[in-house]
Amino acid sequence: MHGPFRATRLADNVYWVGAIDWGIRNFHGYETSRGTTYNAYLVLADKITLVDTVKAPFAEEMLSRIASVIAPEKIDYIVSNHAEMDHSGALPRTIEAVKPEKVFASVMGTKALLSHFDLGLEVTPVQNGESLSLGNMNLSFIHTPMLHWPDSMVSYLVEEEILFSQDAFGMHLASTERFNDEICRDILVDEAARYYANILLPLSPLVAKLLESLPTLGLSLKIVAPDHGPIWRSGFQEVLSWYSTWAAQKFTMKAVVVYDTMWNSTELMARAACDGLVKGGVSVSVMPLQSSHRSDVATAVMQAGALIVGSPTINNGVFPSVADVMTYLKGLKPKNLVGAAFGSFGWSGEAVGHLNELLKSMRVELVTDGVKANYVPDAAALDQCFSLGQVIAERLKERC
Ligand code: FEO
Repeated sequence: MHGPFRATRLADNVYWVGAIDWGIRNFHGYETSRGTTYNAYLVLADKITLVDTVKAPFAEEMLSRIASVIAPEKIDYIVSNHAEMDHSGALPRTIEAVKPEKVFASVMGTKALLSHFDLGLEVTPVQNGESLSLGNMNLSFIHTPMLHWPDSMVSYLVEEEILFSQDAFGMHLASTERFNDEICRDILVDEAARYYANILLPLSPLVAKLLESLPTLGLSLKIVAPDHGPIWRSGFQEVLSWYSTWAAQKFTMKAVVVYDTMWNSTELMARAACDGLVKGGVSVSVMPLQSSHRSDVATAVMQAGALIVGSPTINNGVFPSVADVMTYLKGLKPKNLVGAAFGSFGWSGEAVGHLNELLKSMRVELVTDGVKANYVPDAAALDQCFSLGQVIAERLKERC
């Protein structure tokens, strides 16, 4: 007997048996405003194989979807492409229900799984390039260390030309539709960009290497099945071109003005800087932190050529929300940015200096020492902010 959940067929003898998390809104600091899915895949080869599992609370949903196709205890092998707990959390419960003959993971994955769980069985490590015979089908493994953890690997089902790509090419998007061609393209681009910016951006050099090496592997890709969001059964070349653009982060004529404000003085300065940028031909995203989430700021910065940050001085330092977003951005290692800082102050005015240091530590090219305004910006201070915007625009024109 299976429960209320059903599997979705991807190809002959291959099924999606994952789970939909409609409610999640915080994925370690990244606002997942459309929820997510944890994708697991069932391959009905001679050796019946489950590729990845789901987050622990969704174990029964996954087992129910499996049971809509076959009795779970018929599964012979489990392959863990990635040990992070959104994909391995249900592994102990799955092993208990399935009693598989073997569990496979990369060498680092084996270590990571055993550090997380007492699985009650040995995990068999697989090497990069190794193939596993499933009887009438074959699964090949390609290690992709640091995409997204040191253990990460992808699995390729040779006969069906399906790449199980774990975190790569995924997105946080809960939906009743399982395939990319059933979902509005604008949503796909938006969520894929947010996912890249918030998860993969610091790993861009490795993404670029992977993209370079993909053609040399000679894989024919009929379907790319990630561990989050829709399954790509068409248009995958376009996804590769998105990734290539995001990994390169070339200068663009776009700017992000991100700030917080206490008594609207820093906000006035942000508006003046924005006008200067626009006058210089730059497309601007103005992101007040009282209504902009850090993960949206990260997504905008990834696609921009300039980062302009504003903060009032509070307690001799930077406003807490601005410190938060700068810490987050620094960790994501955006590159190829010019920038500047601005902010109002009452009696000490350290925030702009702190922001300059932060921007320099992020290798943002500073175009000025920044603009400070005492209490409320007067016309001269607002002119300085406008000019700052224009100087940034000129620098972007030189770099683009
Ligand atoms: Fe979806 Fe790195 O886990």
